[in-house]
Amino acid sequence: MVKAIVLYNTRTGSTEKVAKKIAEGLDAEYRSNKNIPDLKEYDLVVTGSWVIMGMLSFAGKRYLRKLRRKNIAGKKIALFFTSGSPDDINPFTKDSDNPRTTKQIMFESMENILSKNKDVTILQNRFYCKGIVKMTKKGKVQANPDHPIEEDLAQAKAFGEQLKKQL
Ligand SMILES: Cc1cc2nc3c(=O)[nH]c(=O)nc-3n(C[C@H](O)[C@H](O)[C@H](O)COP(=O)(O)O)c2cc1C
Repeated sequence: MVKAIVLYNTRTGSTEKVAKKIAEGLDAEYRSNKNIPDLKEYDLVVTGSWVIMGMLSFAGKRYLRKLRRKNIAGKKIALFFTSGSPDDINPFTKDSDNPRTTKQIMFESMENILSKNKDVTILQNRFYCKGIVKMTKKGKVQANPDHPIEEDLAQAKAFGEQLKKQL
């Protein structure tokens, strides 16, 4: 039987909530970067992180490098991330010669780190959860402590279910 696991790193808990839902859809276990098991028995590793200053955090990079050093040769890898901004546009590249979306930047960084291990297959089936921000009465945006919302979690579960069908 094909076996999957969902791994993630988190700072404030959102990526963990999403990881849990993906795992539910996949019928798989989920573990944080602090508790990565021996991956020998898994065929699919789903891995998630989060955005800081428009890019993958240092903690996220460290985590993925640690994952790369694990026994992941021959495995399929699926990527996901969570972010705070409701927009696709990455504000840090908006005025540059090469404007990019946060989605492009995040998946590319994650893929670059993991694909240094040439034996892995990184699936094109990937997921991201755009953060939800609230407008204050004065018209300013602020982070929503309830992020991710139910709709995000339902989509995360559906992503897990899709991956399961693909296995
Ligand atoms: C210091 C800090 C900087 C952040 N910078 C960004 C950012 O530039 N763009 C963005 O979309 N989200 C940003 N976020 C939001 C997080 O990416 C988002 O809340 C994510 O879901 C956090 O994941 P976690 O709860 O698993 O730690 C930032 C969060 C923090 C704490």
